[in-house]
Amino acid sequence: MPIRVLPPNLVNRIAAGEVIERPASAVKELVENAIDAGARNIEVTLRDGGRGLIAVADDGLGMTPAELALAVERHATSKLPDDDLVNIATLGFRGEALPSIGAVGRLTITSRKSGAAEAWRISVDGGAKGAPEPAALSAGTRVELRDLFFATPARLKFLKAVRTELDHAADIINRLAMAYPEIAFALFDDARAVLRYAPGGDLLADAAAARLARLSQVMGRDFADNALPIDTLRESVRLSGYIGLPTLNRATSAQQYLFVNGRPVRDRLLQGAVRGAYQDFLARDRHPLVALFVDLPAEEVDVNVHPTKAEVRFRDPGLVRGLIVGASKHALAAAGHRASTTVSLAALGSFRPGERPLSAANSWRPQHGSGPRGFGEQTAALYAPYDLPSVDPRTTDMSGLHAPSAPPAADGAPVAAHPLGAARAQLHETYIIAQTADGLVIVDQHAAHERLVYERMKTALAQAGIARQVLLIPAVVELDEAAAQRIVSRRGELAELGLVIEAFGPGAVVVREVPALLGATDTTGLIRDLADELAEFGQALSLKERLEQICGTMACHGSVRAGRRLAPAEMDALLREMEATPHSGQCNHGRPTYVELKLADIERLFGRR
Ligand SMILES: Nc1ncnc2c1ncn2[C@@H]1O[C@H](COP(=O)(O)OP(=O)(O)OP(=O)(O)O)[C@@H](O)[C@H]1O
Ligand SMILES: [Mg+2]
Repeated sequence: MPIRVLPPNLVNRIAAGEVIERPASAVKELVENAIDAGARNIEVTLRDGGRGLIAVADDGLGMTPAELALAVERHATSKLPDDDLVNIATLGFRGEALPSIGAVGRLTITSRKSGAAEAWRISVDGGAKGAPEPAALSAGTRVELRDLFFATPARLKFLKAVRTELDHAADIINRLAMAYPEIAFALFDDARAVLRYAPGGDLLADAAAARLARLSQVMGRDFADNALPIDTLRESVRLSGYIGLPTLNRATSAQQYLFVNGRPVRDRLLQGAVRGAYQDFLARDRHPLVALFVDLPAEEVDVNVHPTKAEVRFRDPGLVRGLIVGASKHALAAAGHRASTTVSLAALGSFRPGERPLSAANSWRPQHGSGPRGFGEQTAALYAPYDLPSVDPRTTDMSGLHAPSAPPAADGAPVAAHPLGAARAQLHETYIIAQTADGLVIVDQHAAHERLVYERMKTALAQAGIARQVLLIPAVVELDEAAAQRIVSRRGELAELGLVIEAFGPGAVVVREVPALLGATDTTGLIRDLADELAEFGQALSLKERLEQICGTMACHGSVRAGRRLAPAEMDALLREMEATPHSGQCNHGRPTYVELKLADIERLFGRR
């Protein structure tokens, strides 16, 4: 068969295959164009989940008829004025989106250049381009895409239910809305408003306040109430945003929003960093809520590595990962014993007869302050069965934990001084009831104690260094040459973590000592995983993470199990230690260690308010 250059229309369809996967991808491209055009108001309308119609209207700069004609040509863009692929300040830069969309649907763009007397329109119908003609539009640009994928029936078959496609589009708009709080966004399903985000308004003077307001519009009041601010700079990388308390968690990572230079991304490196930061506080199958913004000089990141720009490549991935893990852990530690307000809301909710959990599918809908969202899911997570691993508690040092470290509040003494109050009773040999200044606290003694023991072990680990254990028979691990080299080059760091290795020919290492805490571990698996992670992140974090995991398992067994009767002084000592210990608001699996009920809430339960 002869080699030939493909006709432009086919080229555009092939390009669309990569970029326009479903209606939401077209929404993303069109909304990004509106943002790049300086719009302050962006309105999206879908019909039939986007299959019938996708319309995006903006009040941005607009285009002249000549610009309209160019905009739908392949590789035509106004966004790379200096032929510079490094300093990209816009969301778009490839000049591919409009011709691709025009090749797989019926595209009409109507636009009025700012200051121009009239508007113009151009159409591209399955790749056939028309000529610009006069049209009516007061300002900005309105793009309409009908019959998406009519020209590529194979794609059409893969579309999901209308509802699913609408959800995907809403997610795209949510993510962009979080990155641009100064812009108003709306999404309509036919005539019904699905999302509506007002611009920051008065808040615009204060960018941080505007951002928090938008985040709480998108992620709900719960998040805003239970989020810890992050704002930190390392070298030239700035990390800002909010991370949720561990007790506010979800079954999926869908509520993790990550941005790089104003661009929403789903980057594995960043997601891995978030997991790393929380792995100490959450069970593997629970996920925190976060909205994190990484800003760094354009030359430090390549945004041209993924067809839909969803992933980026950092020049120094270790730095970015370290920044996220470090700053998040720091913020979580500073939150002390705080558990999220949703815990007590969930507890109160389960008291109220007839309270219906909101369905998780509804969770992206705007909430109008009518109560906590994701309610049912959270309650379910809180009361999930608690399985204890069946290992022996060996090395856990329990001494000192029960010594009353602070004078217990005698009956009748003022209790306001302590956030967790004074212990009043123990119920079912499992729960401690304490009276606080304005309510009561119920502590799960096992969960609380487990956390305290765990934090102790971590401190010991940090202070005394990690005890090593010499392998009687050194283990030789075969790797590929590059992997072996990576491992050997980090020898010093690994030794600090208790792992002593040496090079063993070009493609192998020999392991002489391992961290004692790991016990009889699969050395080969550990080294191979480490080599992979070093390749990806340039950091030996996973070993630390593994150690913490082991601490967690041991702590669980060294703890006061449910079922042990505690003396009043012991109970008060536990409360005081919780107050003084970071992360004591949740156990190692993200469940709360205590629930606080305010008097006002209790009065409401009894109809006194
Ligand atoms: N809503 C709009 N308002 C004003 N100009 C627009 C709008 N949409 C597109 N344009 C113009 O059309 C050009 C082509 O848009 P297109 O989306 O195809 O490419 P791009 O945004 O430059 O790059 P990318 O393919 O990465 O999105 C843009 O560079 C811009 O000049
Ligand atoms: Mg574009």
